[in-house]
Amino acid sequence: RGGAPSCPAPSSHILRRSFSAESAPERKVAVLGAAGGIGQPLALLMKLNPLVSHLALYDIAGTPGVAADVSHINTRAEVKGYMAEEQLGQALEGSDVVIIPAGVPRKPGMTRDDLFNINAGIVKSLCTAIAKYCPNALVNMISNPVNSTVPIAAEVFKKAGTYDEKKLFGVTMLDVVRAKTFYAGKANIPVADVDVPVVGGHAGITILPLFSQATPATNALSEDDIKALTKRTQDGGTEVVEAKAGKGSATLSMAYAGAIFADACLKGLNGVPDIVECSFVQSSITELPFFASKVRLGKNGVEEVLGLGTLSDYEKQGLENLKAELKASIEKGIKFAKEN
Ligand code: NAD
Ligand code: LMR
Repeated sequence: RGGAPSCPAPSSHILRRSFSAESAPERKVAVLGAAGGIGQPLALLMKLNPLVSHLALYDIAGTPGVAADVSHINTRAEVKGYMAEEQLGQALEGSDVVIIPAGVPRKPGMTRDDLFNINAGIVKSLCTAIAKYCPNALVNMISNPVNSTVPIAAEVFKKAGTYDEKKLFGVTMLDVVRAKTFYAGKANIPVADVDVPVVGGHAGITILPLFSQATPATNALSEDDIKALTKRTQDGGTEVVEAKAGKGSATLSMAYAGAIFADACLKGLNGVPDIVECSFVQSSITELPFFASKVRLGKNGVEEVLGLGTLSDYEKQGLENLKAELKASIEKGIKFAKEN
């Protein structure tokens, strides 16, 4: 090149490199709620993932435009848009992973549970279709309140006779993403090196970051720092809801977190070893029937639900404090699905 500066890698290469493809069998991913605030950037990120061969974008409205737009990106996944309930079956058929960010988001002053009345019905109808059209798919539930929507999904699948506890995941990855960011910032450590498990559920005090297990460990943080980091992680969603001032909740960071989690599911399906992420799954590590903790992902979904490890006294107290609320949210979801 005669000394000319070398051409920088196009940004699409940079993005695609972050998802490593050990081997790339055909994999279909469906996004339900694909025209929404999360759905659109999530569709973009899944289109950039070389593990995806087919990307189905479903919503009740707006998907033709989103699908046409995303489909022009020169990456592997073949993109198709599906709109309205009569196309839901086609969108789902043959899916390996179904990601669900369908439903209403919070406005300031609301709790995630305030979304229950609308989102429970949406999740129930989408899961009924999943049971019919792609009963073997891994389901990544993003729709809130996750602490209730995951139990709803489980009940719908049980009723349909398709429930496999290894294949149902509440996406709590955003809590992990936040905990990593806040910890790295406070401890002044490069964030790329940081890991923080987050357990429990996905609402307020049910979100329990385990900073005592954060890596790399640091002695730069006081007990008060840890308490402040815990509170900020628990209130991370509310921080965004308030900053957006009525225009919804986290969408971009959620799309990132959702894409990372779906990528982990795809890697597991493809047989890549040692894929471990936190997720809200059927669990027996506490007395609660669903609980978020580290999960090893494999060819059939959940390969192993990992235990909590050693907790600090502060975390032990946090664990006891969250149980009543999490139990009530789980029971509310189960009751709804049984009665409707
Ligand atoms: P949004 O309103 O921008 O988008 C939701 C989309 O869902 C819309 O396009 C809407 O048309 C679609 N939709 C509604 N009913 C549908 C149905 N029956 N089938 C298919 N699509 C349907 O909302 P958003 O900001 O993208 O948030 C979506 C959900 O994700 C909310 O419930 C929100 O609370 C939740 N959320 C969860 C997390 C998490 O960490 N798990 C993080 C952020 C947001
Ligand atoms: C989040 O954690 O950002 C989401 O659960 C959305 C919300 O309502 O806070």
